[in-house]
Amino acid sequence: MARVSEIIFPRMTGLVITCDSQGKPNIAAFSFLMPISFEPKYVAFAVSPRRKTYENLREVEEFVLAIPPSEMIEKVWACGTKSGRETDKFVLLGLETVRAKTVKPPLLRSMPVQLECRMELFKEFGDHWLVVGRVLKEHVEKLDFQPVLHYSKNVFTTVSGRMVL
Ligand SMILES: Cc1cc2nc3c(=O)[nH]c(=O)nc-3n(C[C@H](O)[C@H](O)[C@H](O)COP(=O)(O)O)c2cc1C
Repeated sequence: MARVSEIIFPRMTGLVITCDSQGKPNIAAFSFLMPISFEPKYVAFAVSPRRKTYENLREVEEFVLAIPPSEMIEKVWACGTKSGRETDKFVLLGLETVRAKTVKPPLLRSMPVQLECRMELFKEFGDHWLVVGRVLKEHVEKLDFQPVLHYSKNVFTTVSGRMVL
């Protein structure tokens, strides 16, 4: 049987920044990710309970969703293959942070799009937990960038063109 990630693709890859109750931040890659409301803006993603990100969200119900450009693919891969339990991914990858306006987890210094979110729903579905976050503050530096589109495991795709009907 095909994995769900091999049936529903490509998926936008985001970097989710969380922090624990002491304020120590963590960053991880997520492609079970989607927008769910225009106004107010809401976003959703699914997190396995095995992730440090899951533990952090239990402690601090806030996150920053950053949308990385395709040039960052190797850093995205590291964020998606190493756990914050053993590795400080900010130090490892040279990711600089700046204080967010409305939430405890920090922003990355320079990213095309970052959304400060407050978690409003956290619910188990099968082997993942659905996280729904309300966007409290948005930071949009640019919109003309190539996102990282995930297929499954270590396979990614790119946007080859835009269709306007
Ligand atoms: C491109 C990509 C997408 C991923 N998407 C998800 C996802 O949607 N949900 C999830 O739980 N893990 C996902 N992962 C796996 C986590 O990012 C990975 O387990 C990471 O090491 C978790 O870090 P943490 O333990 O610091 O939270 C993805 C990994 C990659 C590389």
